[in-house]
Amino acid sequence: MSTDQWTIERSKLVYGLDRNDLHFLDIDDEGNLLLRIGDHTISFKEITDLVREQNGSSTGYTSSFTLRMPQLITYQMMKLKASFARAMKEADYQGEFSAVYPVKVNQRYDCVMPVLASDSNYGLEAGTKAELFLIKSVTEKEKHRLIICNGAKDPEYLKSIQQCVEEGYNLTVSIESFHEAEMIVELLDPEKSAIVLRIKPYLMVRGHWSHSAGRDSKFGLSIHDLYDVIELLKEKGFTKSVTTILGHVGSQITAMDDFHKFAKFMVRVYHEVRKLGLTEVRTIDFGGGLPIDYTSSHPPDLMNQYADALVAGILDGIEEMGGEMKHPNILTESGRGITALGSAVVVKILEVRSVFPSPYQEISEKRDNERDECIANMRKATSVAELLELWSEFHALHGTSNGSMRDLFENELLIGDVRSELRRQLARIATPGIRPEKLVESIWHPDHLAIGNFSVFNAACDYVLVNQHFPIVPIQDLHVRPETTVRLVDITCDSDGELSQFHRKGAGEIWWSRDYRPLTMRTDDMGQGIPVGYLKNIQGSYFVIGLTGAYQDVIEADHNLLGDLPDVEIVVTEEGDWKITWTAGAQKMEDLLADAGYEGFDIDEDPYMAD
Ligand SMILES: Cc1ncc(COP(=O)(O)O)c(C=O)c1O
Repeated sequence: MSTDQWTIERSKLVYGLDRNDLHFLDIDDEGNLLLRIGDHTISFKEITDLVREQNGSSTGYTSSFTLRMPQLITYQMMKLKASFARAMKEADYQGEFSAVYPVKVNQRYDCVMPVLASDSNYGLEAGTKAELFLIKSVTEKEKHRLIICNGAKDPEYLKSIQQCVEEGYNLTVSIESFHEAEMIVELLDPEKSAIVLRIKPYLMVRGHWSHSAGRDSKFGLSIHDLYDVIELLKEKGFTKSVTTILGHVGSQITAMDDFHKFAKFMVRVYHEVRKLGLTEVRTIDFGGGLPIDYTSSHPPDLMNQYADALVAGILDGIEEMGGEMKHPNILTESGRGITALGSAVVVKILEVRSVFPSPYQEISEKRDNERDECIANMRKATSVAELLELWSEFHALHGTSNGSMRDLFENELLIGDVRSELRRQLARIATPGIRPEKLVESIWHPDHLAIGNFSVFNAACDYVLVNQHFPIVPIQDLHVRPETTVRLVDITCDSDGELSQFHRKGAGEIWWSRDYRPLTMRTDDMGQGIPVGYLKNIQGSYFVIGLTGAYQDVIEADHNLLGDLPDVEIVVTEEGDWKITWTAGAQKMEDLLADAGYEGFDIDEDPYMAD
């Protein structure tokens, strides 16, 4: 494909925009990245300009910021409800659907308040005492909302639960161990209590958090505990208090047949606990697990598939047990699926550094000849193996230097030149099915580092913690065939402070950057390097890290005393205008130092680089 044959549609496919969970990002004809909410679009260029204009001289302005998009949280909540309404209608399902939002996924005020504002019947889930206090305060005037109290419980937590019940909150407490059951029957009044039995799902599921399910899970009642707990509840007069059973199979489950299996398991347990006398149990709480498509590579309707899988799993389970059962109500505790779209980190690129010297500079005649000879041989090569062999031989000779600085400089020049020719020849020979083995990947590895004014540990720490992939998109030059790819590195003193993973979409063929790095592959594959339109334009511009709103938004770490970036909220008003509000400046150095135990500082500034 020639340089001119690039289209915006191709860019959208490469970056995964305008579809699945990145449906809110698009590209205009000039190659600018757009944010779309409803029918309205605004370019990120306009957003960054406005933020600088309004706040550029304020304390706490860091040029990079977290963009909060509460309307996307609302969108996800409505979509979840609609998915279940459709799935239930199509299957003639008679039970009801409801949902709670687990605040652990993002406890921030600007996340919880949009959840509450979006649906007056949505409930909240607490996993700790502190989270219950949060929930209590935000639902004080809306006590009808369902509150589920999960998590490890001590007498203090249970007293807070008891107090909430006394004050009229609609609260259901989970029992997760026999010990908890003993405390609960001691402390709570069976007439006033609602109980959910959290059960270990005895299942194998796939995904990073698969250990949340199965025998070895740290959560929920083992099957022997379940029998003992039921006996205890009966003995202490709590039989009628149990309204729900709960299972959680882990987060980010992308294999939908796992949800089907899970629903069949849960409906069997549901049937049996009712037979054991817990006849007030009418609801199955399926916990979380609803996935986000971080790579834009899944089928476009994961939420619909999730709803279909749970409904079908229940119905199939009922059928296998003889078909005679009132359909249970379905409750979900989706967190990631509700909040991930709600924030993105907008990172200013401070500078660009190159790994190799600029190509084809003056060097000794001998080296010149060696380079030319290697390049000539590569041009004649007929297989990838032959090319790699030539490269290995050349690299063995020039890849390291024990000589002078000049010697090292000339080696680096040679390696840079030969590597770039090697990429060109790989593209000539490579079939779409080329396997990105280690050596090939090293040749495609980016030659340029974009230094972003941020800390991976604070802004995208799930990448470091659980290798979570986040989509990254430059805000401009998206209309041209990318010139090259870059590594996005942060300003911490840590080599792990880098976000360079790029999901290469399976396009059936390889589309190459102008310097012959693959932008797509025959089938989906994770590579390194974020494609950029024009390298010269990225200094001073921005990259957007998308889908950052779940978990890590609050599990952030202040490595190097680099704290929170400022927060900027963006909404479309009823009149159809965009409203940008700078809700908080960056975390002050003074506060970060105080957290580390150092008092007495009076520094208003934030620790990020000045604009
Ligand atoms: C009990 C429970 N419910 C809900 C969730 C939220 O899961 P997700 O974010 O996958 O929706 C979790 C997450 O760990 C959980 O432990």
